[in-house]
This record gives sequence, C-alpha cells and structure tokens, in this order.
Amino acid sequence: MAQGSIKIGVLTGGGDCPGLNAVIRAVVKTCLYSDSGRRISVVGIRDGFLGLIQGRAEPLTDRAVSGILPRGGTILGSSNRDNPFDFDGEIDGQPVRGDVGDRVLANVDEMGLDGLVVIGGDGTLSIAHRLSGMGVPVVGVPKTIDNDIAATDQTFGFDSALSIATEAVDRLHTTAESHHRVMVLEVMGRYAGWIALHAGVAGGGDVILIPEIPFSMGKVIEKIEDRCARGKTFSIVVVAEGAHETGRDPVFYRTVEKGFEKRRLGGISRVVGDAIEEATGLESRVTILGHVQRGGSPTAFDRILGTNLGVYAAKMILDGQAGTMAALQGTRIVGVPLEDAISHAKRVDPGCQLVEAARAVGTAFGD
Ligand code: F6P
Repeated sequence: MAQGSIKIGVLTGGGDCPGLNAVIRAVVKTCLYSDSGRRISVVGIRDGFLGLIQGRAEPLTDRAVSGILPRGGTILGSSNRDNPFDFDGEIDGQPVRGDVGDRVLANVDEMGLDGLVVIGGDGTLSIAHRLSGMGVPVVGVPKTIDNDIAATDQTFGFDSALSIATEAVDRLHTTAESHHRVMVLEVMGRYAGWIALHAGVAGGGDVILIPEIPFSMGKVIEKIEDRCARGKTFSIVVVAEGAHETGRDPVFYRTVEKGFEKRRLGGISRVVGDAIEEATGLESRVTILGHVQRGGSPTAFDRILGTNLGVYAAKMILDGQAGTMAALQGTRIVGVPLEDAISHAKRVDPGCQLVEAARAVGTAFGD
C-alpha cells in the first residue's frame, strides 16, 4: 500500500439492510481519525458494483457521515443486479453485456484506490473475492438480514429484521385470539430459516416452518387440530419464504432475467394457509411481511455490530490485510479469509439447541 497519502473506497452491494450506514460511518471515521501518520481519504462508490463499473464515486468526509448511524438503508445506494462478471447494463450511455472485470480494474486505478471495503452478502462477497484474485485489495464486511453467511456467527441486519418479525408475531397473536383464527406469517431469509426460527421462538409461534426441516402439510394440520382439541381457539404459524414440503420445491412468485437471484421466493404462506382452512374449516389469514423487515432504523445490537465490523475492516485494509473479511466469532471481531465466507451458506442445524428448545415448549416443525 502507498505511503504518504492513501485513498480507500467503500461500497454497499446486494439487498440493503439496517446497519449499513453504521458500517460506512465506522470505516470513514476510522480512516480519517487514524494516527498512522498517513493522509487518508475515503470515497463512496455509488450503487454497489454498478458505480465501480461506471466510475461513479464521491468523497466521504466526516460531515458526509454525520448523523447516519441510526438511519436505515445505505447512503451510497446499492444494487443486486449488477455483477461485473456478468453485466447487462449501460456504460457511458452505451448498452454493454458480458464480463466487464477489466473495466472495474481500470476504474479502481483511475480513482486511485489503494483499498476497497465491500459490504455485502454472499453474491457481493463472491464478486469481492474474485476482484481480490485479480489484484484489487479488498476487505469484506458481511451483511444480510438472512444471517446466512459462513465464517461469522451473525450478520448485521439480522437482529433488526428479527425484532420486526417478532413484533409482527406479537401483533398477529392479539388479532388471532380475538377472531379465533389461524394466522400464517411469512418472513424472509431466502434458503435459510434463521428469521423464522428466531421470530417463531421469540413470539411463541405454534408452528415454525423452515427450509432446513422440510414439512408435511398433514403434520401441520395435525398440530392445529391438536390445539383445537385442547381448547386453544387460535394458532400462529411462522413460515420462512424458502420453506417447502418434503419432496417439493420452494414456492416462487416470479422469474426474472436480471439479478443475482433469477427466481423470487414468496407465496408458501398462502399454500399453508389455504390447506389449513380447507382441512380444518378454521378461518385462516396470511401475512407476507416482505421488505418491512429490511427497512427502518437498526437495533442497538446492529449499530454496535456494524460499528465494530466497520472499524475492524478499516484497520485491516490500512494494515494491508486484503482478501479478508471482518467477522463476529463469539464476542470478538476477527479477520477471516474471504473464501471462507463464500465457501458455503450458513444454514440452521435442524438438531440445534434452539430447535430442541422450541420442540420442548410444544412448537411443531411439521416433520
Ligand atoms: O437477502 C435479503 C432478502 O431480503 C431475502 O430475504 C429476500 O428473499 C430477498 O432479499 C428479496 O430481494 P429483493 O429485495 O430483490 O426482492
């Protein structure tokens, strides 16, 4: 890394989540307040990798990051459609398709970047890893409400989404009780059941359906009927968007051409709600929580985790430890190789203590 004056870039890629601004702020402040004796400046790349492809960046000063800690979203903008190695968009007003990795390298050079902090989920971190292999000094920060990144115990954004999902379960409880209904709540999480499991336990769901434990509709119905037989007049089902019946595919509501995810998950709650109503005659209602889970202010936990990760990532990039990712392990932030983070997706272990605890208090998983 150059001595004297240094320029660091920051970008946020993939779906947004609460806590991104806490990380950006921490990176900027750590760089600007560094006592390394070097003159350090930070630029924010606009709209994820799209900005790196199109060469769009702006200075991130102390003033630019002032007051952003409690703000949801990302002040830099994000994109989950633009992969430099499979691009389909515009450059300098011209349509371009294909691998534009060289263009990214040229822009990194032109912007004079000595390091790049990439804040993102698995898709974004995989691109970061590839860029790292091409010589770009990259440090990653794991982000996603889904909590499905390996090599870190938790991602920031998860706790905020969880608190919203839990509140939703609480709210559904009171109306379910009043009307003697079955309420089915669908939460996000892609192919991991972290949000559903945790919100289901925190909110006291009667049935929790997660992708890691394929379910039988018959068993779900059995559980609802059993509650009725025991005099319970309502039930709550928390279902992860990626949950599926044994031997069946997850439910998708749309297929698209562009983006990291070509098939959009959603709709399993309707399948479950309809089946319950048909089989039991109990009135059922479905709520798909959707992007409410990703919006708004981060929890205190996510602000703290985001700050800790951002500070650590900035220090790693200034120390020349590229090709790494800041990760939470236990109560400490550590550096791990980027490839460890993208090696596999972190899923709920069906035999884990929390699943066991949920079963112990009578929660059914439909298996
Ligand atoms: O990865 C975060 C996430 O919110 C998933 O839980 C969800 O499946 C997906 O993103 C939704 O993506 P989009 O915002 O592109 O609809």
